[in-house]
Amino acid sequence: MLHPFPHQRGSGEPIVELQDVTAGYDGQQVLENVSLRVMPGDFVGLLGPSGSGKTTLLRTILGAARIFRGKVSVNGTNQVNKRAQAGYVPQLETIDWNFPVNVEEVVLMGCTRHNPLFPWHRRQDREKAHEMMERLGIAHLLRRQIRELSGGQQQRVFLARALVSNPDLLLLDEPTGGVDIKTRDEVMHLLHELNHQGITVVMTTHEINAVAAHLPWLVCLNGHILAEGPPGEVISPEILRQTYGAEMPVIEYQGMALVAESPHFFGRNGNGNGKGKERDNGDDNAANQDGNDDRNRDGNQYDRQSNSDNDNGNGNNPVPAQITQANY
Ligand SMILES: Nc1ncnc2c1ncn2[C@@H]1O[C@H](COP(=O)(O)OP(=O)(O)OP(=O)(O)O)[C@@H](O)[C@H]1O
Ligand SMILES: [Mg+2]
Repeated sequence: MLHPFPHQRGSGEPIVELQDVTAGYDGQQVLENVSLRVMPGDFVGLLGPSGSGKTTLLRTILGAARIFRGKVSVNGTNQVNKRAQAGYVPQLETIDWNFPVNVEEVVLMGCTRHNPLFPWHRRQDREKAHEMMERLGIAHLLRRQIRELSGGQQQRVFLARALVSNPDLLLLDEPTGGVDIKTRDEVMHLLHELNHQGITVVMTTHEINAVAAHLPWLVCLNGHILAEGPPGEVISPEILRQTYGAEMPVIEYQGMALVAESPHFFGRNGNGNGKGKERDNGDDNAANQDGNDDRNRDGNQYDRQSNSDNDNGNGNNPVPAQITQANY
């Protein structure tokens, strides 16, 4: 877990401050009356359903969305006057993968000293870019086109681009989206390390249990801010219902508030109503003799497998299948 002790928010001036901000795009208001303070050294997770304005909020901080009302300042500078000096890792879905560009070129784009009138990179920039690629384990890919990389490699390339200018604020849009569990944990450990080196991190995520529950501070958004605070306070059925418009039961596991999803059954053996399809499940009953609960009698292999993976050895098997333990 990030910051195992109660998180101490930094004191002094906020690094990001939104005061009663209404923002969006030409002809579309997405965020309404958003007020938010991010203090230096914070590690903030932004939660909300699709279309709730998470990306728009990051773009508002960056100065890349339209501000209709209110004030946005980053490092004490009003966003209207100057674009934020922040590292930005975009949501991978928003990238045009047909653009022919290789890994090294993408990372070098992050060098703030780069002057469009002088399109050669300085030696220091290249050295810094290579150092960052080494650190993120992508140096061997430097001549590869980014569209040819895996999702995890692409995330690292954009993380390297964001970090190459030594920002003190890092904004990441779903940095763990679409990657495997190992890559997700590596990315989160890296962010944890950067945060402990003094970089303020604001990231969006859809992964409540695997990511958000481990962060020190969460903000729930759906056009406006519904709640903010440590996960133990924010991950509650009431706040999740307001945020996502869905019933999401919450359980406590090893001191963490986690969402316990109800099992669903999809595909040939499921009827879509969460009950599964009647079938002869003699094998399943055999499997249940090891102490698993009744849910497995519906014949869902994923559940059965997961339950045995999570068995705590006392036969009660109280750990829901959907919970993964991460130690960032
Ligand atoms: N460039 C744009 N121009 C106009 N409208 C946009 C633009 N980008 C996003 N929107 C709209 O703004 C709203 C919020 O979008 P946004 O991308 O901020 O949501 P999100 O919370 O990041 O969603 P997701 O979880 O799917 O990434 C949506 O209705 C979207 O259609
Ligand atoms: Mg988004």
